[in-house]
Order: sequence, then structure tokens, then C-alpha cells
Amino acid sequence: MTLILGLETSCDETACALVRDGREALSNIIASQHDLHAEYGGVVPEIASRAHVERILPVVRESLRAAGVGLRDVDAIAVGHRPGLIGALLVGVAGAKALALALGKPLIGVDHVHAHLYAPLLTDASKPRAPVSAEALYPALGLVVSGGHTALYRCDGPRTLTRLGSTIDDAVGEAFDKAAAMLGLPHPGGPNLDKLARDGNDRAHDFPVSRLAPDSLDFSYSGLKTSVLYCVRGAPVRDGGVTRFERDHTHLSAQARADIAASFQRAAVRAVTLKIERALDAASERGHAYRSIIVGGGVSANSRLRTDLARLAERRAVDLHLPAMAYCLDNAAMIAGLAHHRLINADTDDLTLRAEPTTTA
Ligand code: KG4
Ligand code: ZN
Repeated sequence: MTLILGLETSCDETACALVRDGREALSNIIASQHDLHAEYGGVVPEIASRAHVERILPVVRESLRAAGVGLRDVDAIAVGHRPGLIGALLVGVAGAKALALALGKPLIGVDHVHAHLYAPLLTDASKPRAPVSAEALYPALGLVVSGGHTALYRCDGPRTLTRLGSTIDDAVGEAFDKAAAMLGLPHPGGPNLDKLARDGNDRAHDFPVSRLAPDSLDFSYSGLKTSVLYCVRGAPVRDGGVTRFERDHTHLSAQARADIAASFQRAAVRAVTLKIERALDAASERGHAYRSIIVGGGVSANSRLRTDLARLAERRAVDLHLPAMAYCLDNAAMIAGLAHHRLINADTDDLTLRAEPTTTA
């Protein structure tokens, strides 16, 4: 049995979780900073770092309390050490090193993006569900859809990932956040746009779905973003060297805004399902069927994406593993869960572990 304490501070959530045997989250505490960044319309790195410093110890204490365990019960300390905002990552890495050193326990640095693909395997100790076995899951087609990343992977195990494609410009979550801002929705935009889209007609506008080259598994969201901008604000006009628009979202009716949100969401999600179909086709042409599709990252909370992926999986007769809502957004349970697979292989880090702003794979 392993009990791992995980820390996650890569962006604007300060999180700590305790996870047993890489599967069962005994606690999953997330202190969101959304209120601190809302007035700036996005995450301000310096504010994020300072808030992590203030919150990390209370979050660790609360996580231990909620799990009903003490620091001495923990077998290892895991931390998301890449990718992310460097000042934010440093707080988690320094905190994890301090805990590991003081307790004499192993330290394990985990890639945040890889951890998102581990989220569907987590269960909540208070709502247990049958664990999914690795044999049933892998090889899997992994999809990460977050604010910073949009990528497809071939996953041969929780730690064996090969990237098949990724975004060449914006991440899908970033596109959701930008479209939401154009529609006058508050930060964080993605969940607010998801809500607004429920009242809209998703066929009201025919926004572009990026396909790229016929065999490409990459993604692109800049064309869709520009189309939404022109739809909301009208055609741009150059005026004395400055670009001006004829209107903004305040000139649109509530129904018109909902229709744009629904149509944007349809196109954004279709760009994802299209690439999944391509990846499944490419694999079956080579005689490599995937046993399942696993999905992670903040946008995996999107209602339309969840429904459309479920339909696709049914049509293609492949198992789909989506994270429970609590594990879609940034959390530390996915960090502690993935770290279990390194701890049981005696593959740990030492105090030279560095925070890294980018991922290696
Ligand atoms: O994984 P995450 O918490 O952070 C990163 O690693 O980037 O993802 C955050 C992203 C944000 O862009 C947020 O707007 C988006 O996930 N998001 C959503 C929804 N919930 C969160 N996008 C669309 N629909 C949602 N329901
Ligand atoms: Zn994330």
C-alpha cells in the first residue's frame, strides 16, 4: 500500500491531495484564485505566486485533516514540477522539497500534462467506483484539453506516452476563454461559455473547424477565434493606424450571444472529435487498435465535449474514460496518483529537482 501527498501549483490553483495506491483520493483540496485574477481578465503570474505562498500550508493542513491522516503516515511527497508559470511552480517544488527533507521521505516530480491523463483513473474515497484495470485501458488514445495544452498521445501505460499531435497556436481552453471574453463573460471563461451555450442555437453560425493536412493530428484554434471576434464585433476598420470594430458584445441580445457561444462550442468540440476519429482510423489502418480513449484537462469538464465524445466512443465501439468532475480541472490527486507508479518502481527524485516552465514530451 502507498499513501502519497501531492502538491500542485502550476497556475492559479493551490492544491494538495492524499492518494492511496495511486487510485483512491482520501482528500482533494483545491484553493482557487479565480477571484484574485478576475478583474484582470486572466491569470497574473506575480499575483499567482504570492497567493500560492500564502495558501500552500493551510491547503496541506486541510488536506491532511480531510483525509484523517498525519504527515508521518505519508510514504512520499509528489509535486507537479512542469510545465506552468515558473514562479507558481517554484512554490510547490520548494514546499515539496521542504516536506520531503523534514520527513525523510522520497520526493517525486510529476509532469502536469501527463498527470491530466491519469485523472480518469482516480476515484473518490467517499464515492468509490470499480477501479479500471491497466489491461482494460492501455494502449489508449490520450487527449489532453486544457488552458495551456491541446494534444493527442498514444499511451502504453500511465508513464509511457508518445505525443501524436498538439496545437500549432492556441490551446482549446484558451480559445474558450478568449471567446468568452469577447462575449463579455467573466473569468474563467470556459465554464461560463459552457453555461451560456445551453440557451443557444449551435447552428446559428457556421464557424470554421480546423482540419489542417489530411493526416494531421495537430490542432489549430486561431481561425475559429478570429471568426468569433468578427461575428461579435463586426468587420475591423483601420482608423489612423488603429484597428477599430463597429460594435461589441453589449450591442448583441442575450439570445444572439447564446447562439454565438453554442456555435463556437460546436466548432471547438468538432475540431477535437475530428482528430480523435483520424487517430483511431490511422491506428486501425496500421493494425494497432486502441483499447480505450482517455481524456483529461480543464476542458474535459465541458458538457458538449463529454456528450460528443461519449457518442463517438459508442459509434466506434471503444471504451471512453473521462475524469470525474473533481479531477478535470487542475488538482493534486492526479499528481499523487501518477507518482505512485514511480514510487513502486523505486524511481524517485532528489532535492535537485527543478521547476520547469515547459514540458519535455
Ligand atoms: O487543466 P486546467 O485547469 O488548467 C490548465 O492546465 O490549463 O484547464 C483550465 C481551462 C481553462 O481554459 C478553462 O476555461 C477551461 O479549462 N474549462 C472549460 C470548462 N471548465 C474549464 N472550458 C470549457 N467548458 C468548461 N466547462
Ligand atoms: Zn492543467
